[in-house]
Amino acid sequence: MILRECDPSTASTTDVMAAVQIMNEVLAADLPEDPPWQLEKAKEYLTVTMPGERRFTWHALDSDNTTLLGRASLLITEEIGVLELMVRPAARRRRVGTALLAAIAQRAAAEGVEALGVEVAGGTPSVGFFEAHGFRRACTELRAVLTLESVDWQHIATVATGIGAGYRIEVHPDGPPSTMFETYTAAKEAIRSLEYDDLELSPSSYGPDRLEASLETLRARGMKPYVVVAVHERTETVAALTEVVVPEHRPTRADQYDTVVVPAHRSYGADRAIKARMLLELRAAESQLLDVQTWNAAENAQMLKINSELGFRIDREWREYAADAAALARQFTAPGLTH
Ligand SMILES: CC(C)(COP(=O)(O)OP(=O)(O)OC[C@H]1O[C@@H](n2cnc3c(N)ncnc32)[C@H](O)[C@@H]1OP(=O)(O)O)[C@@H](O)C(=O)NCCC(=O)NCCS
Repeated sequence: MILRECDPSTASTTDVMAAVQIMNEVLAADLPEDPPWQLEKAKEYLTVTMPGERRFTWHALDSDNTTLLGRASLLITEEIGVLELMVRPAARRRRVGTALLAAIAQRAAAEGVEALGVEVAGGTPSVGFFEAHGFRRACTELRAVLTLESVDWQHIATVATGIGAGYRIEVHPDGPPSTMFETYTAAKEAIRSLEYDDLELSPSSYGPDRLEASLETLRARGMKPYVVVAVHERTETVAALTEVVVPEHRPTRADQYDTVVVPAHRSYGADRAIKARMLLELRAAESQLLDVQTWNAAENAQMLKINSELGFRIDREWREYAADAAALARQFTAPGLTH
């Protein structure tokens, strides 16, 4: 097996096609209920990063130097090194994954990264793999999927109007307007300290500058943002917000990102109303969309209840695993300790 580091910014169409093919083989084997990727904007999705972030990519090739067996990437953010790793099903249990992980660990340690994090779908080979390499489980979430075909649209239309007096709902396809950045980020900041502890594997968007960069990065990666907010009319501030992204490389399945209700504005029905309004907007604007997926902490009973009322059905556990980068790198360099 040959391990080759690749510069993501100069990836050829052939490289991108190979990456998409591996992803689709992995999905078919491990998450057969998930829709496959398409080539549209796949290169941008795989390569564009937030300002200040860096991405390293490796390919594992067969000894003929042409057949791709697996690929891995390491995204270094301010907080953490986020890794992604996949090995073609036909090439598994031959230490390809271990070789890719060793390359990641050594680079992460050399770059001064302290912690490595990875998202792992429950019930897939990744669980055994990362546990065998000493990763510890940092948090557990539940993924839920809403199939649009099963939605009771009349009920959703009623829920969408069920918000208390003094609030108005606004829909912002393409993200909130810049005039709202200040109060939008303040709403996110207001619940940040109350949120369940996870590894912040996705870019956070706190502060207007960071929000702007985050939106630009999403768009550049071919991920169309939709935002619905509840505005508290007396103060003209954002009382609640919900964010969904429709990725161009996987246009039939949207990702429900953050939903936030500022503590002072709870119990006015804002969370249900904005989420229901979002579904109406998505149905109108994205005719190809089949379903929406979302992740919630298992302890977040309130959000799980609302999602269940809207028609989301839990389909899998999703775990975040973490490891100390330097300790992991040492495992791969210490003689006799190689996994
Ligand atoms: C997880 C994955 C990378 C492992 O790749 P691999 O090349 O088969 O792994 P290795 O051969 O290096 O396995 C090393 C060790 O991990 C553990 N392991 C690997 N696969 C396992 C499985 N299916 N069940 C339990 N343990 C497993 C074993 O301890 C194994 O050692 P052993 O074969 O001597 O028992 C591969 O199964 C894969 O690509 N899965 C999908 C990954 C994915 O979903 N990626 C997207 C997000 S990151």
